[in-house]
Amino acid sequence: MQITTAVTAIVFLASGAAAAALQNVTQWGGPNPNNLTMDIYVPDALARNPSLVLAPHWCHGSAWDMFTGTEWRNFADKHGFIVIYPDNPTRESRCWDVCTSAALKHNGGSDTLTMINMVKYAQKKYKTGKTYVTGISSGAMATQALIGAYPEIFAAGAAYAGVPFGCFATTDPGLWNSACAEGNVTHSAQGWINIVKKAYPTYKGKRPRIQLWHGTDDEILNYTNHLEAVEQWTNVLGVNRVKPVVDAPEGNWTRTRYSKNGVVEVEAYSLKGSTHNLMTWKPSMITYAVKFFGLDKFAPVKTTTT
Ligand SMILES: *[C@@H]1O[C@H](CO)[C@@H](O)[C@H](O)[C@H]1NC(C)=O
Ligand SMILES: *[C@@H]1O[C@H](CO)[C@@H](O)[C@H](O)[C@H]1NC(C)=O
Ligand SMILES: *[C@@H]1O[C@H](CO)[C@@H](O)[C@H](O)[C@H]1NC(C)=O
Ligand SMILES: *[C@@H]1O[C@H](CO)[C@@H](O)[C@H](O)[C@H]1NC(C)=O
Ligand SMILES: *[C@@H]1O[C@H](CO)[C@@H](O)[C@H](O)[C@H]1NC(C)=O
Repeated sequence: MQITTAVTAIVFLASGAAAAALQNVTQWGGPNPNNLTMDIYVPDALARNPSLVLAPHWCHGSAWDMFTGTEWRNFADKHGFIVIYPDNPTRESRCWDVCTSAALKHNGGSDTLTMINMVKYAQKKYKTGKTYVTGISSGAMATQALIGAYPEIFAAGAAYAGVPFGCFATTDPGLWNSACAEGNVTHSAQGWINIVKKAYPTYKGKRPRIQLWHGTDDEILNYTNHLEAVEQWTNVLGVNRVKPVVDAPEGNWTRTRYSKNGVVEVEAYSLKGSTHNLMTWKPSMITYAVKFFGLDKFAPVKTTTT
């Protein structure tokens, strides 16, 4: 720990500057039908084979809001990983497409494929290790959409106040599904498994682990969506029959963990009395995702150039 701190300090002094800046990437390859934009945060000092985190914003939010409004950049500096902040500036609602059949299908197109192409660009350019995805509200929906349709890309995801994969499916051009938002879309375990499998029927590999957060008093995306997401992912990840470990890491939080072979596959946080706006309520909750992803085990290494 002391060595890490010293190395970080040297790099900081040698660079002679404050933290790195958000960079704009204009060419990352692949189709971009919805004119998404890509910003990336690359700390001055990276870990070896740095991890990569994709961080889609909430509706009416932006890449800049996600960058400045959450602690991901600070953790990126501390542990030497890279964060991609995608944006959809031409869409009035600034919500992600987690609705169309294209978005909910492996290599189907729309926002999810464009974000995957951003990820692939960064994976190659920075020779990254594992990739993760996290988002809030619409970004949490995108997290679950990406994990379902592109399971081979991500090691894990953390979804703060979203909905299960496929719940928001709609042909409404406004990309909003009121029935799902109000908690009226429920399925059996097998029903949710089938919806995820349909996204990528030939996929047989490992599925990403997932952390799910939701306020019991969510007035925008009803808490039912949390229960349905737990049902979906515990079944998809094969931990539905596991006896979960339940505890309360902080006041009014119930954490329920479903493990397989000593690894937590699904970790669900139920926040008693919390509304939709989780981040305002307790920003430190990102610490738990950093730990769930295992990013806290990494530290920046000193570069040989100055
Ligand atoms: C990146 O470029 C896009 C498109 O020009 C713009 O909307 C966005 O604000 C830019 N981001 C930054 C951080 O400069
Ligand atoms: C994306 O940008 C192109 C070129 O400016 C424009 O023709 C197209 O309508 C835009 N698409 C969307 C979905 O905004
Ligand atoms: C959701 O269900 C409630 C209760 O049955 C009903 O009042 C409401 O209209 C439904 N909303 C939608 C959008 O289906
Ligand atoms: C969520 O839906 C349930 C069942 O329809 C309803 O009783 C509850 O009031 C809703 N929660 C909120 C915060 O609107
Ligand atoms: C838990 O919630 C109750 C009621 O909303 C509140 O009064 C209490 O302060 C909360 N406790 C903590 C530790 O946040």
